[in-house]
Amino acid sequence: MNASSASSASSAATLSPAEQAALTSGGSRWTTTPVRDVVRALTLSDGPHGIRRPAGDAAEAVVSRDSLPATCFPPSVTLGCSWDPQLAHRIGAAVAREASALGVDVVLGPGINIKRSPLCGRNFEYFSEDPHISGVMGAAVVEGIQSLGVGACVKHFAANNQETDRMRVSADVDEQTLREIYLPAFEHVVRHARPYTVMCAYNKVNGIHASENHWLLTQVLRKEWGFDGLVMSDWGAVTDRVAALAAGLDLEMPPTGTDGQIAAAVEGGRLDPARVAEAAGRVLRLRDRTDRAQRFEDWDVDAHHELAREAARASAVLLKNEGDILPLDPTAQQTIAVIGEFARTPRYQGNGSSHVVPTRVDNTLDALTAAVGPATTLTFGAGFTLDGTPAPELAEQAVAQAAAADVAVVFLGLPDAHESEGYDRTDIDMPADQIELLREVARVCPRVAVVLANGGAVSVSEWLAHAGAVLESWLPGQAGGTAIADLILGIESPSGRLTETIPHRLADVPSHLHFPGRDGHVVYGEGRYVGYRRYDTLDVPVAYPFGHGLTYTTFAYDDLETTATGDNRWTVEATITNTGSRFAREVVQLYVAFDEPHPTRPRHELRGFTKVGLAPGASASVRFELTGRDLAWWSTSLGGWRIDPGPFTVEIGASSRDIRLRTVLHTAGDGTLTDLEATSTFGEWLDHPVGGPLLREALARAKAPSPEDLAATDPTLLRAARDVPLAKFTGLGFDVTTQDIDRLTAAVRSR
Ligand code: GLC
Repeated sequence: MNASSASSASSAATLSPAEQAALTSGGSRWTTTPVRDVVRALTLSDGPHGIRRPAGDAAEAVVSRDSLPATCFPPSVTLGCSWDPQLAHRIGAAVAREASALGVDVVLGPGINIKRSPLCGRNFEYFSEDPHISGVMGAAVVEGIQSLGVGACVKHFAANNQETDRMRVSADVDEQTLREIYLPAFEHVVRHARPYTVMCAYNKVNGIHASENHWLLTQVLRKEWGFDGLVMSDWGAVTDRVAALAAGLDLEMPPTGTDGQIAAAVEGGRLDPARVAEAAGRVLRLRDRTDRAQRFEDWDVDAHHELAREAARASAVLLKNEGDILPLDPTAQQTIAVIGEFARTPRYQGNGSSHVVPTRVDNTLDALTAAVGPATTLTFGAGFTLDGTPAPELAEQAVAQAAAADVAVVFLGLPDAHESEGYDRTDIDMPADQIELLREVARVCPRVAVVLANGGAVSVSEWLAHAGAVLESWLPGQAGGTAIADLILGIESPSGRLTETIPHRLADVPSHLHFPGRDGHVVYGEGRYVGYRRYDTLDVPVAYPFGHGLTYTTFAYDDLETTATGDNRWTVEATITNTGSRFAREVVQLYVAFDEPHPTRPRHELRGFTKVGLAPGASASVRFELTGRDLAWWSTSLGGWRIDPGPFTVEIGASSRDIRLRTVLHTAGDGTLTDLEATSTFGEWLDHPVGGPLLREALARAKAPSPEDLAATDPTLLRAARDVPLAKFTGLGFDVTTQDIDRLTAAVRSR
């Protein structure tokens, strides 16, 4: 126990059992419990991408959109596509500044759950289908928030990957998949950013509510990862308060008035009073930590708005740009038809607990109008209604405007109610009326650029042929309108990259047959093969791959160099050059690949990335560190990470399917020779560096056929024998006795 936890624990000891119990439950919907004049109430507010501090009587409302104005930064679906941890850190610090000014001690975010299916209604709040970038970006936001002493709350721990039946469903996930896909982002954030708090999820994990899951909250989070902060529940996630405390939960939110259950359980010997004191001590430690926060009365509203604009610009993904339709020249003699209600009424954030009342909202129509020169004529047509009410006259008007224009910029996307916290989508389609409008526009106007606004990935294949350019802006935050105009007009080159694959069809999604489950269970039948881990392993065609994104220049990749720097440690370097005519930023991605005849693991996995800005003709060296963990897989039987000896490929690329440089390295493995048992197979014995020779000697002594004799007699015999446990040989008439095997296993262990 370190000094701070010792002091908090000691001060918890000065509180009565009833006061300790009171601290383990909220004092109100958004505060912890005050205790006399000893412990102040801490204020907790959503996040993640802006402060939602309910005001007045909205404070106790179960759901209210009435909160104090704050900057609505781009949600994580967007920010993740910036692949820029430094930017994420700056946004975290800005959110913390506003939290302080609004009297908030802990920001309830970031959410870092993996996008197992594009249907998840809350994907807009999460970063990626990949745990590496989710962890790196999540840690950057936490470090940014906590740089001012405001607490962060990484959520939802764990395997909260759908909204359907989220408060009851059991996520049934094998341990290897949990360890390699659904836990690593949390592990990275806990180990590297040390969040003050973690929020446990609503759902069960393998049959046990996350709020009562001792393996999750104590064994993994605390004993393995060393988490020293406070675990709070999601709002209403506690079913059994005593079981939750016993499992490692420290704070139930909001309160349920069940402190008496704690006292009764302690008196009845069903709950260790030391556990209650420990949980209360963690509330006190959170108070101590947040007491040290810098205090601000206000923030620079314009500067934060500009930061939101910078983030939206850095995150939008240019999916397609045939014939360099984009950028448009704002000084040209031209007519631009701006089509789509989203250009005037932007979708810029998602629904549910993360909804922020913005300080202001930009729209692209106004931004373009302000930015183009006198030679450019802009026309606008809504084209459709946001709620999907049929409006043929709007479509006709928009098509007529497109017919009279040199270029049409069509703003399409998912209507607000299509996706939200609390429910999942059932398809990934774009609204049919919008696709029809685009088809008609393309029929009369040769140059068409589409701008998308959506929180979850949408299928593009049905209508892609009607657009020369497609800019995916996701949900770009309150300044997204100006940011999109900046990119359309080339004031900045797009630099976003996809952090989730865009599939051709929903049926191609790895989890499709296992989402969202039924009868109280969702089985993660696709295992580790989430997103590109399946698509790239099986070469499944996709619309746009993980890591994809275009810009207004081109980049060359050269001079891949690797250096071994220690036991399973390497540095990897490459040179990136801007070979085009505009300044732009490139996201250089590093994957570790295993080429196996029969896959036992995903073909390759993201293990590093860096974003570099280059002027035309300029070059820069990029450098990555690789460690053994980057090669490891989780062995459930051994209960730990394993590194197999052998070759692996380092891939440097511009997306998971645009690998520019490759080199093969070798690892000696993790050095842990697996012990051999009587149940180890003949093949495992033969392949073992110590057991193999010993077995051959024993066979020779017993004048038994050697492997080579077997192969000479009948090649199929040796292949079949390789998978036979050695102990079975005794029963198969081979004169290898049980005593022989015991001697062999003892000899191997003694080496
Ligand atoms: C919600 C969300 C969680 C949020 C909390 C408080 O249900 O799941 O992310 O922080 O409740 O609003």
